[in-house]
Amino acid sequence: MTQDINNRLVKFNELVPSKVPFVEGKLKGHQDRLNYSIVGPGVSEDTKQNVKIAEEHGFNIGAVSAAPMNGSGLHSHTTAEVFLIFSGSWRFYWGTDGKEGEVVLNKGDVASFPTNMFRGFQNVSDENALIFVVLGENDPGVITWTPKVLEKAKESGMVLLNDNTLVDLDKNKIPDGKVALEPIKEKDLESFDHYTSEEIEKYVIRYENKDKYLKDDEHYDSNSILNYLDHFNVHNKDFEPNIDHNTGFGLTMLKGNNAHIHPYILKESEVYLCLDGEWEVTCNDQKTIIGPNDSFSSPRGSNRSLKNISNQEGSIFIIRQKNLK
Ligand SMILES: [Fe+2]
Repeated sequence: MTQDINNRLVKFNELVPSKVPFVEGKLKGHQDRLNYSIVGPGVSEDTKQNVKIAEEHGFNIGAVSAAPMNGSGLHSHTTAEVFLIFSGSWRFYWGTDGKEGEVVLNKGDVASFPTNMFRGFQNVSDENALIFVVLGENDPGVITWTPKVLEKAKESGMVLLNDNTLVDLDKNKIPDGKVALEPIKEKDLESFDHYTSEEIEKYVIRYENKDKYLKDDEHYDSNSILNYLDHFNVHNKDFEPNIDHNTGFGLTMLKGNNAHIHPYILKESEVYLCLDGEWEVTCNDQKTIIGPNDSFSSPRGSNRSLKNISNQEGSIFIIRQKNLK
């Protein structure tokens, strides 16, 4: 059966976001934020979160847009969390009190945060801004909030239950058989890791430093490759990763005026995510086009190719599954 590849095309402007995706979602600094689930549900606590592509990819892709000075409260993950900045300036801060360190990132920057550490982020530009987030594994598990986030959320009427679902106590009560999740205890806080700003900087690649990382794939001078995570193979050439994190997925940027990849077959899941330009994707002889903020997931085992069809330099992220069993 031929499947219509347009079912795997994700036009960002057609996505339906969650307005209260997490427990702190009614608090100042978090209430003007939207959460998008593009591949998999991610770690959304909103049971009504719309998920665009539910098929397991070995990773999850989501996005967050936020008004100035809005973003996510301090939380920890059990799998990889990699941020791709698409617009604006974003401040990432971390530690149990959020004061152990910070980095401010801008368009085209990438940061891979370690597991088991509390991190939060906010849009520090003066306009709405957008980031994409790639999480590791089919099931990225649940996030752990700092006790302070859960306490403040409760004051706003929002309670996270022991099955990781949210209740707004202004509208509903806690269902029978369920209980509110207890904030983690002081002694359990000690099991989370601490990092200085210099240590986290090793997991950050800033776009302004791209010349340090970009490699030519020696394919008619058309392609520049910035490889972030895991090995990347294109036109029979291998590219080493620049971030030393084993996330279970590869992340690469392909860039150039005439950037393109000739047809290839991959048995793993793979997603193209457009930062700039207009890209034609051909997949099993069907064609589709993705522009900025749009993405496309090639079916496993399909024959696909990619080319920038805009008359300017284009940049596209390629996310490849690396944990296929
Ligand atoms: Fe997160």
